[in-house]
Amino acid sequence: MKVLLLGSGGREHAIAWKLAQSSQLEELYIAPGNAGTRKHGKNVDLQVNDFEGIKNFVLEAAIEMVVVGPEDPLVNGIVDFFATDPSLISVAVIGPNKYAAQLEGSKDFAKEFLYRHNIPTAKYATFTKETIKEGQAFLATMKAPYVLKADGLAAGKGVLIIDDLKTAQVELEDMLSHSKFGSTKVVIEEFLKGIEMSAFILLDGDGYKILPEAKDYKRIGEGDEGLNTGGMGAVSPVPFAASGFMDKVHNQIIIPTVKGLKADNMDYRGFLFIGLISVKGEPFVIEFNCRMGDPETEVVMPRLKSDLLDLLEGVATQTLSERDVVFDPRTAATVMMVSGGYPEKYEKGKTIYGLNAVEDSIVFHAGTSSDGPAVMSAGGRVLAITSFGKDIEDALEKSYENISRIEFEGAYFRKDIGFDLIN
Ligand code: AMP
Ligand code: GLY
Repeated sequence: MKVLLLGSGGREHAIAWKLAQSSQLEELYIAPGNAGTRKHGKNVDLQVNDFEGIKNFVLEAAIEMVVVGPEDPLVNGIVDFFATDPSLISVAVIGPNKYAAQLEGSKDFAKEFLYRHNIPTAKYATFTKETIKEGQAFLATMKAPYVLKADGLAAGKGVLIIDDLKTAQVELEDMLSHSKFGSTKVVIEEFLKGIEMSAFILLDGDGYKILPEAKDYKRIGEGDEGLNTGGMGAVSPVPFAASGFMDKVHNQIIIPTVKGLKADNMDYRGFLFIGLISVKGEPFVIEFNCRMGDPETEVVMPRLKSDLLDLLEGVATQTLSERDVVFDPRTAATVMMVSGGYPEKYEKGKTIYGLNAVEDSIVFHAGTSSDGPAVMSAGGRVLAITSFGKDIEDALEKSYENISRIEFEGAYFRKDIGFDLIN
């Protein structure tokens, strides 16, 4: 099969790495890709939202399947674009259509879905510019801290957790009267206290398969302090999920979600990321994403023993139920090396040394570019160093050992990935 993968991050490198192991793969192209993905296929100089450019390339290279890494093209309707163009109709696109992608693209849409199908989630109400006063009154009925979420995609910046009522009320007005974060709606949620994790399922519009779960570390600083980032590391499996918790997730969250998608005629075909929080051992949905997580994919793909392309073909032909998903029982951990200053101002273009000295870890490139054999940083998150071990500590030891062999100016990483899971 000839496959085009869209995206350029660590998630896409991990997917490319996994697809390249399939005996069914004929050719792999990655658009735009990075210095890591070029080892598994050909990088194509196309942006993920350039649907016309993608169409031309798909026709030219006789692509049979497009795998969409990030959410943007899905929320922008790439699946619908392909489905309504007669020349592209036979090309399978892995990802949900524009309507279903609102599960990530609109917090209000996701909350309505969760309520409609009785799936455990934080209590909420949604407000607009016309109902700022009601929103402020609603906040006064809630307990601190206050959770305010801009409705639309805001590159991870649209969620505010505020301790003080007055500040939250002022912020609500600010968010709505100026469409701060680009949204005309704000969802106010009850604050849930607990430990978070990510579940992943693959759906073919009919059946589904559960992929390995993971936990990511979003804050820049050790001890989960400081600014939010795209993700500083991840581990899989998640020890607290192992026992009964994942069964609860399956019965109380995954089954009603899959039924709800069908009942609402969403025809969901692709990856669904369910952001969960365990409140005293009970799972609640924090968010849906219409794609895989990053850096979770950098631990999920290595743990997936099954042929990914075979599973994706199952999605394309609605025969997923005929295929098996087998996990590697070992623990995988990944540690992200980022540019100095990230997630605030940082410099790119730093030459990366030592990649060839890595032993017993997989280096997934998150933000890199190349100049001949030289590899340079090209983003905030630069490399994800993934290792296997018998437990989290064992896996992390290998990742940290290899990080000490890799160098670029200003490199930073968290030394405490998995800290809350290790006793
Ligand atoms: P979201 O984009 O909806 O996943 O929110 C981003 C982050 O904010 C989550 O990963 C949580 O850490 C936190 N968060 C969101 N909603 C809540 C909530 N209702 N209670 C507590 N924390 C939350
Ligand atoms: N790691 C969180 C995300 O991909 O959204």
